[in-house]
Amino acid sequence: MIIKILKYIFYGLLIMLIIIAIYLTLTHKNVVNNGTDNDNESNTQTQGEKASEIAGNEDMLILANKTNELAQNYKPSDLSRVNAYASGRDDSTRYMRKEASDSMNKMLEDVKASGMDIVITTAYRSYNLQKIIFENNVKKSGSIEEANKTSAKPGQSEHQTGLAADLSSSKLDFELDTKFGELDEGKWISENSWKYGFILRYPKDKTEITGYSYEPWHVRYVGKEFAKFIKDNNLTLEEFILQRQQIN
Ligand code: DAL
Ligand code: ZN
Repeated sequence: MIIKILKYIFYGLLIMLIIIAIYLTLTHKNVVNNGTDNDNESNTQTQGEKASEIAGNEDMLILANKTNELAQNYKPSDLSRVNAYASGRDDSTRYMRKEASDSMNKMLEDVKASGMDIVITTAYRSYNLQKIIFENNVKKSGSIEEANKTSAKPGQSEHQTGLAADLSSSKLDFELDTKFGELDEGKWISENSWKYGFILRYPKDKTEITGYSYEPWHVRYVGKEFAKFIKDNNLTLEEFILQRQQIN
């Protein structure tokens, strides 16, 4: 009787050992496989181009935002007149830096040729003009905080870089309106302006990063190479510059 019981215990333990051995073999295989998968994944990532590897004109990456101010006397030396401009605006704002201005003119010619209607409302703005605009917006909105959701304080506007422009259309009576993003014109800008070196600077889903509300009308020139990478990777200028500083 005792021998029978011992036999059962022996076979029971043997079966348990076999089960444990099978379990360990299978889980080890999974660990190895997962390791291989992860390696493949990271290989794919490292094979893709990194922000730090994109060649372009670094001078076009000047950053103006709520934490990076431009000096009061900062004014680009190569401002050049832009075409396709809404009437009745301050003449001093009809300029962008040469490279940006040439590309903007080409883009708006192509827009016109394809039957759409886009004009610039303001491009370059001096520190002093931005000061006047911001103070007016504070009066209109009732507080500095409210105004600063869509309007930059002087020194913090990238319009002062000569690389930004606000766009509108006769369809919107040349106003800056989020409806621009729903027009064919706004959609075209969102989808195609990177080909001319522009990015949408204040996207809907990145307000926490940019510090400003959605502005489908505000484009920023960075050059074609950088614009393509920023568009492909759904980045803001802040994110792109940060990634670019990370070598590894
Ligand atoms: N609307 C942008 C943020 C500016 O005022 O520069
Ligand atoms: Zn703007």
